[in-house]
Amino acid sequence: MQKTGLFISFEGIDGAGKSTHIDALAALFKQQGRTLVQTREPGGTPLAESLRELVLHQPMDALTEALLVFAARRDHLHTVIEPALARGDVVLCDRFTDATFAYQGAGRGFNADILEQLERWVQGRPESGAPEAAVAMHPTALRQPDLTVLFEVPPAVAAERLAKAREADRFEALPIAFFERVAKGYADRAAAEPGRFVRVDGNQTKNQVWQQLTKTMFNRGWLAIMVAGSPR
Ligand code: TYD
Repeated sequence: MQKTGLFISFEGIDGAGKSTHIDALAALFKQQGRTLVQTREPGGTPLAESLRELVLHQPMDALTEALLVFAARRDHLHTVIEPALARGDVVLCDRFTDATFAYQGAGRGFNADILEQLERWVQGRPESGAPEAAVAMHPTALRQPDLTVLFEVPPAVAAERLAKAREADRFEALPIAFFERVAKGYADRAAAEPGRFVRVDGNQTKNQVWQQLTKTMFNRGWLAIMVAGSPR
């Protein structure tokens, strides 16, 4: 079984049903002997969690929103994700940069070129031996997840689930047309990078989703044992 670091992100519109499966996968990886970091974006560090509070609850324009999610991501990558991957841990991250392209880009209609520029600054990796400060100017490669699991559900189904679940934050309160654009944004990114994405139909039973997820991990050699049953 692979023991090098493994970076898996989970995406989907609000209400797509990521959370249960992330928790269950974390338990399974641990059960199979992997050291694991379970985290989320925006968030995952004290600074990034503070930025998350602002992004989810304070009114702001689209550029401010994009800058804040990337600022949070920078701190998170630098202090949590990169060190964990360097140790050989599994990192399960509830959302990453695809969310920015889907929400701020497709959803809000914010300029994708600017998002790509911010992505290069934040996720650029240095040539070995190059000083940290040189990274943003001359990245040689971008840090991206090894796998991105995209949970897809019709926006109307997601909205119905959310209405039952909790009080809406700034995004959850947006109209269904916003989530249709976000869903399309995710679908376009998945189509452009089929090797990185696995698309899961989140409108099946929990057990069916779980079977698909665990099979994906097993087929890639990331889980030693194929599991039966459903997530707790
Ligand atoms: P979410 O991941 O759904 O957490 P919870 O289950 O606690 O509600 O909430 C994060 C929200 O932030 C979600 O609406 C998507 C949004 N978001 C962005 O708009 N851009 C981003 O780059 C990220 C990471 C999240």
